[in-house]
Amino acid sequence: MRKSVIAGNWKMHMNCAETKSYLCDFLPLIKDIPNDRKIVIAPPFTAISTFSSFSNSDYLHIASQNIHWEKQGAFTAEISPRMLIEHNVKYAIVGHSEPRKYFSESDEQINRRAVFAQSSGLTPIVCVGETLEQRERGEADRVITRQVEQGLENTDPSNLIVAYEPIWAIGTGKTCEASDANKICALIRKLIGFNDVIIQYGGSVKPNNIDEIMSMSDIDGVLVGGASLDPISFSRIANYK
Ligand code: PGA
Repeated sequence: MRKSVIAGNWKMHMNCAETKSYLCDFLPLIKDIPNDRKIVIAPPFTAISTFSSFSNSDYLHIASQNIHWEKQGAFTAEISPRMLIEHNVKYAIVGHSEPRKYFSESDEQINRRAVFAQSSGLTPIVCVGETLEQRERGEADRVITRQVEQGLENTDPSNLIVAYEPIWAIGTGKTCEASDANKICALIRKLIGFNDVIIQYGGSVKPNNIDEIMSMSDIDGVLVGGASLDPISFSRIANYK
């Protein structure tokens, strides 16, 4: 039985004081969370240490928003697994559509990040997803297949999360139909060839659509941006039925 993973991506939000205040509100709201799920939050790097000292790691885990493929070196603005593991980080988001778009991250770079995260003992959350134009041209399956084949080469599917995030649904309030998202998640599972791989959906997940999304057979969790910034909304998502 796959354990679901409900992850929040804070992106470039929250300083240390805001992180403390968030956790004061959020922790009591998830203390009775059923043990069929894990809750993960990716704070900005500067808030990770504060997050780690204020959260209870039994039911709330920390992700980083990026990870480099070298242990250390001359890589300005990058972060290595050993710097994160020191602060109790367990997961690393890679291949999110924002760095793909703004910093031209390639599938090859994403693959190097994912492989090194795994060999360092972290679980990568590898994001894939098509643009609106690609979907309208009927190319969604082809784009996802390429991203999965290139981005996940030589990764271990037993220590992996893949997040299907159609780009047109991120931050727009437009959610992909749950049944359409489920079809793509099933395709990803088939391409990976490992039934127990965890596959999330992401893109405008909110308290009012979480229950339907989580009822889908091939969706094992969600990656949440905007709605994870509010402890009440995110706790409702974490407590999906
Ligand atoms: P959103 O972001 O929930 O605000 O659409 C999702 C994401 O970027 O992972």
